[in-house]
Amino acid sequence: MGHSKKQHKGSAGERFSSAGFILAAIGSAVGLGNMWKFPYITGQNGGAAFFLIFLAFLAIIGLPVLLAELTIGRGGRGDAAASFRNLSNRPFWHSIGLLLVLGSFFILTFYSVVAGWTIHYAVQSLGGELYRSADYGAVFERFTGGAMPVVWLVVVLAGTCWIVMRGVSGGIEKFNNVVIPGLFILLLLLMGYALTLPGAGAGIRFFLKPEFSELTVQSVLMALGQAFFSLSVGSGAMMTYGSYTDQRQSLGGAAIAIGSGNALYALMAGLIIFPTTFSFGIEPASGPGLVFIALPAAFSSMPFGSLFGGLFFVLLAIAALTSAVSLLEVPVAYAMNRWGRTRGKTAVAVTAACFAVALPCALSAGGVWSGVKAGGRTIFEWVDFITSNIMLPAGGLIITVFAGYVWDQAGKEAGLTAVWYRLWIVTLRYIAPVLILLIFLYSTGII
Ligand code: PHE
Repeated sequence: MGHSKKQHKGSAGERFSSAGFILAAIGSAVGLGNMWKFPYITGQNGGAAFFLIFLAFLAIIGLPVLLAELTIGRGGRGDAAASFRNLSNRPFWHSIGLLLVLGSFFILTFYSVVAGWTIHYAVQSLGGELYRSADYGAVFERFTGGAMPVVWLVVVLAGTCWIVMRGVSGGIEKFNNVVIPGLFILLLLLMGYALTLPGAGAGIRFFLKPEFSELTVQSVLMALGQAFFSLSVGSGAMMTYGSYTDQRQSLGGAAIAIGSGNALYALMAGLIIFPTTFSFGIEPASGPGLVFIALPAAFSSMPFGSLFGGLFFVLLAIAALTSAVSLLEVPVAYAMNRWGRTRGKTAVAVTAACFAVALPCALSAGGVWSGVKAGGRTIFEWVDFITSNIMLPAGGLIITVFAGYVWDQAGKEAGLTAVWYRLWIVTLRYIAPVLILLIFLYSTGII
């Protein structure tokens, strides 16, 4: 062996069970990306054709990079920075891996704000208060301008911290084991209801009947970025989870299960949102407000709308929480190894640091600081932009380069058959890095 394997110090070799690992990884992947970002960017980019391209990117780029990330985690047996060093024996790679750790940390800061919104909307919808006014844009503005987003942010971060504190199998695995199947049942119920709404057919057609003429270069690149975000690839989350699986787990099988689980949830989310919006004559291209502004308008005029809407937001909140847990675990695992404190103390410290950055995010998304802008973006928008469009693609690129060129045992650790291995390595060396660079240059406005 050319490298020394340094085990996680603070976590004392914690492990997922095999099924627990798959559920936790699906929990990380399925989140606001599938149910808040995905519907509106699909709406803005012409519907079905965009969805198909997204699926294609998930399969040909997302899966290979996901497999590489899981493989580096299990082979390196460390946090998202230590794994790189353990496998290459070079401290340089440790510093590079730090970028992934920071990526997760900063994604969590704006992600937890939006997760808080979903809880507020769930409560307001179930209680019926949400439907007292007819102007949902104003409702959203009033809410994000007040103090409640900060209260919900604290709730989300405290809950996430509590789960992470309880450890890999006692917290993360247990939580996902309960909520992921529940999420699936909830989605099925909501989908069944949405598909029977009058006029649902137009929404289904929009979502599933491709019009390739409407595709632009921009939408193709957006689809690739969305494939990354949605699979949680490039942030070290999958690497950290991968470090908690044992040698018997088939990583190729796991990547396929995670990828198809994630695609299925995106499909079902689309089959809830588009039939609902079309049924009530709402523009699906209405942007980030689709879920918080357009959908409540639809819920308000349908039978059992407050229950349906309430359950929809509960679903969103749970999906967001399982992703937030994976995001927090990345810096927590890193900090535990680095400073050697207990999981509990580390989780509290990292969460507090996260709150310090999340607070300005919350206050700038409609609140008192929404007027504070640089280059046309608020603090919230900057953090989203830099993490999603710069740090994730950069993380993905680092992973492909490392597994494709630097670590020569990647194939052995992944345990693929010869044919699959060849396909995988060609994708990692030549196809994925080129495409990732393309989105990167595009999303930063360089091309
Ligand atoms: N995949 C999550 C979602 O779709 C977001 C996420 C990105 C989670 C990166 C972890 C790491 O919402």
